[in-house]
Amino acid sequence: MAVAEISPCSYSRYQTLPANLSSTPLNAFHIPSFKRCRSPLQVRRPLSISCSVAPSQVQSPATAVPVLPADAANKQECYGVFCTTYDLQAEEKTKTWKSLISVVVSGAAGMISNHLLFKLASGEVFGSDQPIALRLLGSERSYQALEGVAMELEDSLYPLLREVSIGVNPYDLFQGAEWALLIGAKPRGPGMERAGLLDINGQIFAEQGKALNAVASRTVKVIVVGNPCNTNALICLKNAPNIPAKNFHALTRLDENRAKCQLALKAGVFYDKVSNVTIWGNHSTTQVPDFLNAKINGIPVKKVITDTKWLEQEFTESVQKRGGVLIQKWGRSSAASTSVSIVDAIRSLITPTPEGDWFSSGVYTNGNPYGIAEDIVFSMPCRSKGDGDYELVKDVVIDDFLRERIKKTEAELLAEKRCVAHLTGEGNAFCDLPEDTMLPGEM
Ligand code: LMR
Repeated sequence: MAVAEISPCSYSRYQTLPANLSSTPLNAFHIPSFKRCRSPLQVRRPLSISCSVAPSQVQSPATAVPVLPADAANKQECYGVFCTTYDLQAEEKTKTWKSLISVVVSGAAGMISNHLLFKLASGEVFGSDQPIALRLLGSERSYQALEGVAMELEDSLYPLLREVSIGVNPYDLFQGAEWALLIGAKPRGPGMERAGLLDINGQIFAEQGKALNAVASRTVKVIVVGNPCNTNALICLKNAPNIPAKNFHALTRLDENRAKCQLALKAGVFYDKVSNVTIWGNHSTTQVPDFLNAKINGIPVKKVITDTKWLEQEFTESVQKRGGVLIQKWGRSSAASTSVSIVDAIRSLITPTPEGDWFSSGVYTNGNPYGIAEDIVFSMPCRSKGDGDYELVKDVVIDDFLRERIKKTEAELLAEKRCVAHLTGEGNAFCDLPEDTMLPGEM
């Protein structure tokens, strides 16, 4: 039964120390307040701790401790109609529903989220019997916009949407979260070096990793969308040592979808005929859309599209640079198609992958069968049983053309990793990024 109402919950700023940190002095642990509900009733209003980690406070994961400012503002609130009581067990229609899941969306006032939140609330992502709690994470600056989004969610009267809260503090919003869709990131500003972008966004994702580590469900699934998403995902997982690294993904599904569309267009078929498309590597202009293993109507692409020059050059480049071309046309980054691809990425993890097919996701390299460097987040072909987990696909062919390009995107990710070593607990950062590579939108 899910009920939301004022209840006898207790709040504590201090939490039991994780075993691996137990030698740290107790007063070093300023853990955010936790709701402790002794009954099914819940309070969702008075959390009152906010947290920001200044660059100088960033610590290695081994000693990572959330640092909370004393003057933290109350910024996590249930919103409007979502503060009312409900009882799913009381009605025939809802008592067979699954138990409520909590989904956090960061950058919740942004364009991608504006498409995504309504898909999540409608049931089209998690199913028509899956009630949902949406936690909208934004910044102080976007707080009013968060309220605007929450108002629109209210006015949409989605039956499955049972709770909405808005806030600026990841330690509050991530409490018990089962999904974290991390979209919020700073765009690269004029004159900003790529290293600067990595550092600024890396700090956001280091903090969010620490918050996930402190308060999220141990089985939380994290999809990092904010760019540079592979390296942000790496930073995030390194700062969340108590959550399996396998639970973190960088979104490359948009690139896969783009590749499928281009192959369909060239072959003169509808895009549902294209399968087995892998995006290898980084979500950047070094990414490798794999036409060697891809199929059209179950037939290898190279047998259907015999124009090898097109596959190697135009096709590859059109996928790598699609995001940038779109920005030139739109004047802003892709939003609707990104949100669709986030939905696709979630669905790929919660439904069994069709026999013989796979999907692409940026995942942590830890014993991969392709000879790709370990300890980075690299997009690879995955299959899922539909339980939220995945396994890597083994029977793919990698020829010299693919290998050479995979090496290039791997080198870029290794360089990005060196550049954020101060955020992953691996010592001093050293930035030697290849100059000719960019985010899809940076062209
Ligand atoms: C995209 O691929 O559309 C975006 O990642 C582009 C960008 O840099 O925002």
